[in-house]
Amino acid sequence: MTTPVPVIAIDGPSGSGKGTIARRVAAALGYHLLDSGALYRLTAMAAAKRGVQLDDAEAVAKIARCLDIRFDSHADGSERIWLADEDVTHEVRKESTGAGASTVAAIPAVREALLERQRAFQKAPGLVADGRDMGTHVFTTAPLKVFLTASAEERAKRRYKQLKDKGMDVSLAALSRDIEDRDRRDSERSVAPLKPATDARMLDSSGLSIEAVTKTVLEWVAEL
Ligand code: DC
Repeated sequence: MTTPVPVIAIDGPSGSGKGTIARRVAAALGYHLLDSGALYRLTAMAAAKRGVQLDDAEAVAKIARCLDIRFDSHADGSERIWLADEDVTHEVRKESTGAGASTVAAIPAVREALLERQRAFQKAPGLVADGRDMGTHVFTTAPLKVFLTASAEERAKRRYKQLKDKGMDVSLAALSRDIEDRDRRDSERSVAPLKPATDARMLDSSGLSIEAVTKTVLEWVAEL
């Protein structure tokens, strides 16, 4: 019998630091990385580029099923994201793209369309998967499920710094509102809402450094 490829699922709300922690943990373990939010972001972008309304469930799901995307990782740790032949690395991170992603992510047929694509990332030696439903839906048998949280205020501040560092023009008040709206949409949707798996380990990163959070997750991995 072959041993299943291990998956470390890291779920949590916007700005909880999932992306950063998932990247660090994957690098430390030499595992692959799935940024599942990017798939929803790319779906929203592909729809918008074709003039499809984001609430047109059938048309958006069709786009999700035929997404032509590529994630290129480079030796220096940088990554480029392609939508067909367009480099969308920068655009994919915009707040407006995140809001669109949250809208299309509430469409059951879109989630269904992206399921197998996400599972295809489970390759040896292992996978660190970050998102909202990695532990509850996509990788239900993951040996380690982490639910990462942080206070809404801290999450808004982190997002603000992240976007400012990228040279984007943002306001903290607007970001806080966006985060609250997004939390509500992601938690209240009928399909795969944001919630911890019953067997998830909770980790509140408020006031903790990236190093401390990464260390805790790696300690949990070592216990497996
Ligand atoms: O993590 P992120 O900000 O890139 O995610 C963008 C949106 O996609 C987020 O508002 C919710 C949605 N999402 C989801 O519903 N399920 C996932 N596994 C990942 C993201």
